Amino acid sequence: MPPRSSYMLIGALLATLAAIGLIAWVVWYKTRPVPVMQVGSVSSTAVTPTIQIGGPFALTDNKGRAVTDKTWRGKLMLIYFGYGYCPDVCPTELQIMSNALDAMGKDAKRIQPLFITVDPKRDTVAFLADYVSHFYPRLIGLTGSPEAIRKVADEYRVTYEKVEDDSDASADYSIDHSSFIYLMGTDGRFLTMFNTGTDAVTLARTIKSYLKP
Ligand code: NI
Repeated sequence: MPPRSSYMLIGALLATLAAIGLIAWVVWYKTRPVPVMQVGSVSSTAVTPTIQIGGPFALTDNKGRAVTDKTWRGKLMLIYFGYGYCPDVCPTELQIMSNALDAMGKDAKRIQPLFITVDPKRDTVAFLADYVSHFYPRLIGLTGSPEAIRKVADEYRVTYEKVEDDSDASADYSIDHSSFIYLMGTDGRFLTMFNTGTDAVTLARTIKSYLKP
């Protein structure tokens, strides 16, 4: 056998072995056990868990009608939780909501402003009817049983607590409560929320950004 052809045979043999080795490596690489830390720990821990805000409710409006979270489907709901005897924060926030809606022109019709009381004992249907009329013509006040109020407040992560150390205990109590304005979508789902003191212009502009043309 001429030396040249035996070199070629050896070369072909080595090439074949190399190819087999490469295939074996690819198979091993694709089927190798992947360490758990590598799989998703970086990306999955970077994702902030979604906190559910909002949910179903069944309450009574300031005209005595039974309403639910589905009553205003198709409109954005702009919701504030507070109480009628609140001396400062609640009236201020409701006024900001009203000013924002005034600033929105005809788009305001696509928003339903709601005031949900955390003081159903004093904020009766009749009381709320008078109360909401001082702010915005279409503002609707909602009240209900203490249990129904607690349920909807919990759904919206609203905290409230009667201040127990008031000296004249009876009717003149105040209530500590969280203060956010919630914007809910036409399907009732949470869109965004606003801190206390957000001005009416910012409020109106943000609400508009959620309105589909
Ligand atoms: Ni208040």
